[in-house]
Amino acid sequence: MSTVFDLGFGVTERELALEALPVRGRLPDWLRGTLVRNGPGAFRVGAQQYRHWFDGLAMLHKFSFGDGRVSYANKFLETRSYAAAQANGRISYSEFATDPCRSLFGRVMAVFSPRITDSAKVNVARIADRYLALAETPIQVEFDLETLKTVGVFSYEAGPVGQMTTVHPHVDFADDTVYNLVTRYQARSHYRFYAVAGGGRPRRVAQMPVAEPAYLHSFGLSRNYFILAEFPLVVNPLHLLLWLRPYIENFKWKPERGAPFHLLDRRTGAPAGRFEADPYFAFHHINAFERGDELIVDLCAYPDAGIVQSYYLNRLSDARGELPWGRLRRYRLPLKGRRGRAVFETVADVCLELPRFDYERFNMDGRYRYVYAVSVRPDQRQGFYNQLVKVDIETGRALTWHENDCYPGEAVFVGAPGRTAEDDGVILSVVLDAARGTSFLLVLDAQSFAERARAEIPHAVLFGYHGEYFRRS
Ligand code: CO
Repeated sequence: MSTVFDLGFGVTERELALEALPVRGRLPDWLRGTLVRNGPGAFRVGAQQYRHWFDGLAMLHKFSFGDGRVSYANKFLETRSYAAAQANGRISYSEFATDPCRSLFGRVMAVFSPRITDSAKVNVARIADRYLALAETPIQVEFDLETLKTVGVFSYEAGPVGQMTTVHPHVDFADDTVYNLVTRYQARSHYRFYAVAGGGRPRRVAQMPVAEPAYLHSFGLSRNYFILAEFPLVVNPLHLLLWLRPYIENFKWKPERGAPFHLLDRRTGAPAGRFEADPYFAFHHINAFERGDELIVDLCAYPDAGIVQSYYLNRLSDARGELPWGRLRRYRLPLKGRRGRAVFETVADVCLELPRFDYERFNMDGRYRYVYAVSVRPDQRQGFYNQLVKVDIETGRALTWHENDCYPGEAVFVGAPGRTAEDDGVILSVVLDAARGTSFLLVLDAQSFAERARAEIPHAVLFGYHGEYFRRS
C-alpha cells in the first residue's frame, strides 16, 4: 500500500495524452481554455533521491476544456537536466536543495561554472505571447501549448551564473507589461526590476544595491511602486558564487535585521521609501494597493523561515509531522514621509499557502475580497496540505473544501465571463486521492465552494506548485 508520501513525492512513470477524462458532475459550458500546471515529475533519478519539495525534474500537466469535456496530457520538460538525468541515470544538475555528487575536481570546477538546473518547474506564464515554464534559476523554458514540447529558452540577463529571479512576475494589464525581479549576485549585488512589453526584450527599470541579498520568491506591485519585502533569510553573495552548499543552504536566518519593506518608484526607478517591520518570512505576496496615504501589502506570512526546512523530504516522509501554518497578513505602510514602521493584522485564523485571487480583475485593486489557497485542516494537522480555503478578507471568515485522504494542489480561480460578483467562477485544483492512488481535477463553485465536477486522472500527479489558466483567444 502506497503512502501519501510515496504517491506525492515519487516518480511519474507515464507521459499521457488523453482526449477526454471521465467527468463526474458537470463542467461549466463557458469553461473554454487550458489549465497548465507545473511541478516535479520525478523526485528520484535512478537510485538517487532529491532532498526537498522544491527539487526534481519539471513536468507539465495540461487540461483543455471545451464542450463540457476536458482532455489531459503530461510531459517532462525537455531540458539539459532532464536529458542528463536520462542519459546518466543520476542527478546531474544543482537544484534548490540538492547538488549532484561532486568529486574534489567537480567542487573546484563548480566555482567557475556550477551546473545550475534548467528544469523550470515552478510556474508557467504567457510573456510577450510566449508560453514559459518558470524557474528561480535564470533559464526560463519556452514550450508549445498544444504539444507541451520544449521550444527554446528565455533569460532576463545574459550569463547563467550569479542571478536568480522570481517565478511570480506581475502583469500590469493597463500597459500589457510584465514585471519581474532579478537578484544579481556579485561582490556588489543588486535587486533589479525588469519590464517585458510586446517585443519581448527585457528592459531594466529599477535597481537597488544590496550587501546580503534575501531569498525572495515573489515581490509586490502597486500602481506607483515596486515593493520588496526583504525577509531576513539572507546570503553572503560570495558563498553563493562559490556554491559552497546547495543553493538555499547558503542562506542564513538573521532576525536581528528585521524585515524592511523597500519601495522603488515604478516610473523613475528611484528609491521611494523604507518601512521597518519585525522579522517574518513569506514565499508569496498576494496583492498590494495604495489607499489614501497608505500602501497595503497582503502576504502569506510565517513567523520565521522554518517552513523551508519543513519541506525537506525526510521531514515530509514523517506522516506525523506538522507543517507550519502560513497566515494571511495585511501590512500597512504609511507613505507620508517615506519612512516609518509597517504594522500588520492577521486577516483570518486559517492556514494558507499558494494563495490566489481574481488577479485579472483585482490586481493592485483594494476592492478585492477573496483569497483562495491550500490549507491544513485544524482537526487533522499532521501530514501535507489537506484542504482548500476561501478567505473573505472583509469578515475574516473562511469556507473550506476537504475530503478524507485527499490532498489538493493550488486553487486556480477562473472567472465566469461577464461576471459582476468577484467570486462568480470556478476553482480548479488537482487533488491527490491517496486512498485510490490517483489524482483528479476538482472543479469547485468559487462562490459556495461546493463541488461542480471532478475529472479522474489515471495516475497520481506529484505535489506541484503553480499553474495558470489560459483563455482560448
Ligand atoms: Co510560488
